[in-house]
Amino acid sequence: MSRIEKFISKFAIEFDYFFLKLLPTKKYSQKLHDAMKYSIKVGGKRLRPLFLIEISKIFNVKKIMAFRAAAAIELIHCYSLVHDDLPSMDDDSMRRGHPTCHIKYDEATAILVGDAFLTLAFEILSQEKTHPDAEIRCKLIHELSRSSGLSGMVGGQKLDLEAESKNLKLSEIMNLQKLKTGELFRFSCVAGSILAKKGLNDFENLENYAYKLGLAFQIQDDLLDVTGDESKTGKKLKKDLKRGKQTFVSFMGVKKAKESAEQLIEEALDIISKYGDDGENLKQITKIIINRSS
Ligand code: IPE
Ligand code: IPE
Ligand code: MG
Ligand code: MG
Ligand code: MG
Repeated sequence: MSRIEKFISKFAIEFDYFFLKLLPTKKYSQKLHDAMKYSIKVGGKRLRPLFLIEISKIFNVKKIMAFRAAAAIELIHCYSLVHDDLPSMDDDSMRRGHPTCHIKYDEATAILVGDAFLTLAFEILSQEKTHPDAEIRCKLIHELSRSSGLSGMVGGQKLDLEAESKNLKLSEIMNLQKLKTGELFRFSCVAGSILAKKGLNDFENLENYAYKLGLAFQIQDDLLDVTGDESKTGKKLKKDLKRGKQTFVSFMGVKKAKESAEQLIEEALDIISKYGDDGENLKQITKIIINRSS
């Protein structure tokens, strides 16, 4: 394992310790509670929290604030995966090396796990511990709702499902992927600047960076679907082709898709070069996006 891979897996352990403690302890339904815990405990790379926290460090944001915002974005991500795997969506049986939530429990429970994660994310952001200034909390809530909903992940997921039965232009594939994946990265990348009350300049730069990162990330996910190893990804592969899903890879082939992802990462690195030495870790984790096998 390289230094940066070790750093990332250590981060995931530290984050998960904090993350699990944010789950409500009161059990209204034992089954729902267990299914929520299960969906978190099966793991995941925790990349969205990692980016949020690394960018927050550049702006000297207090650790507890960054961790809480990071928990909010990871909850939205976990909810999106639980719903993405449902029979009416991608119909997947494996996630993070374990049976998907609806297979382990049942479909209704999986829908409610997603709903509970989604709402818990906003509950966390609304609490004073996230930031003492209500205006900042409100801005975080505003940006997370934009990234998660119709103009973000939800909108993208619908376009993604429709893409199974349509021929899309490259610009349409890019838009779909920007929404379904790029938008959650957008929140991860701008949250630190909001918590630190930075101006529009940093916000817009980081937004730009996030879209490049998110697109490269999704291209790598699509590449792994074709060329990856299931024992590493922890999810079933070769699904996109089977479902006739339009992706960068189906559109331009493996080689060109890889080159596009590399180009996007170069551009992303260029945007954060303004943070100099403070951005060194961020640079390293940016490169991991296209070098990952899981
Ligand atoms: C998977 O995201 C969903 C996509 C947007 C492609 P990740 O690859 O970050 O999933 P986990 O969190 O590590 O399981
Ligand atoms: C999922 O994209 C993106 C979201 C859940 C928003 P995919 O459907 O490609 O993700 P995997 O391959 O199932 O992880
Ligand atoms: Mg999907
Ligand atoms: Mg899927
Ligand atoms: Mg995929």
